[in-house]
Amino acid sequence: MRVLSGIQPTGRFHWGNYFGAIRQYIELQNNEQAFYFIADLHALTTIREPELLREYSHEAAVDLLALGLDPEQATLFRQSDVPEIPELTWVLMTITQMHLLEKCHAYKDKKARGLAADAGLFTYPVLMAADILLYDSDLVPVGSDQVQHIEVTRDLAQRFNSLYGETLVLPKSHVLDESAKVPGTDGEKMSKSYGNVIEVFLPPKKLRKKIMSIKTDSTPVEDPKDPQTCSVFALYVLLASDEEQQTLADRYRAGGMGYGEAKQAVYEAAMDFFADARTRREHYESDPDSVEDVLQAGATRAREKGREVLDRVRAACGLASRPV
Ligand code: ADP
Ligand code: TRP
Repeated sequence: MRVLSGIQPTGRFHWGNYFGAIRQYIELQNNEQAFYFIADLHALTTIREPELLREYSHEAAVDLLALGLDPEQATLFRQSDVPEIPELTWVLMTITQMHLLEKCHAYKDKKARGLAADAGLFTYPVLMAADILLYDSDLVPVGSDQVQHIEVTRDLAQRFNSLYGETLVLPKSHVLDESAKVPGTDGEKMSKSYGNVIEVFLPPKKLRKKIMSIKTDSTPVEDPKDPQTCSVFALYVLLASDEEQQTLADRYRAGGMGYGEAKQAVYEAAMDFFADARTRREHYESDPDSVEDVLQAGATRAREKGREVLDRVRAACGLASRPV
């Protein structure tokens, strides 16, 4: 079974990305045939600074490897290294009905805010469909905001198959567990667009400062506090063992502990939790060529499968065979 997902390099990864998505991708790499890619073609719809896109794409690969994505188990590649994707995108575009894209949220939201949208943003779901269909993907782990795009992908595959005969595999979405939305430093959902993120690989001093800036209520130190409504505690839960969580929860309820102490506990737990990842990161950071090698080997594997599917597509819709 092929598992596939993409992640946009639109910034450095934060705790929300890790606990909400990356950790779950990594769990799936062990028992499935997994393809993961850095969606730099998608990121072009928002990032217009070439140096920044290059940096984020590279750092995304470094971060994913550091966080435990194992290139021996899973195939990791950069979307723009697979030229079969834009080709399949075009073929799919010719069978995409406008109304399907008009209801997609990225475009609809932008339009509702009175902003001009580019054709790239409008057709973004078709590019995403090509990403998925190019490798006969069966399962696509995504956040709930992406489920609509998987539905579009299924619609397009179905339409292609009904026009040209059974060619494309219909994928299923696997909605990531978002039951615990990771809160940001202001208590709202952690998100780049809210400017409230804690990046996974901040240097220790900056990390501590960021954690110390988490907004809390003004309960005096001596009073009991409720761990269940506190975002500092919610973050601690992600990082600490059950026993450690229980100990801190008891201290909240007993009173006599200020939020500063709880934040210090979060900082220490985070340094511990990501210690191995930080060590791995240093290794990849000092050897950028090895990261590039992983991406190139991944692209080679992805293209091998991609060409097989594209050959099927070309034959089905009457295009000449791919030149050798
Ligand atoms: P951002 O909101 O910072 O722009 P993205 O939309 O790029 O993040 O998210 C990439 C992945 O990380 C998605 O699968 C999304 O569901 C997950 N994710 C992002 N923020 C959170 C969060 N606060 N809690 C849980 N999951 C999150
Ligand atoms: N659009 C996805 C997001 O913003 C990223 C993505 C691009 C993707 N292509 C994909 C996810 C294919 C799954 C499958 O999160």
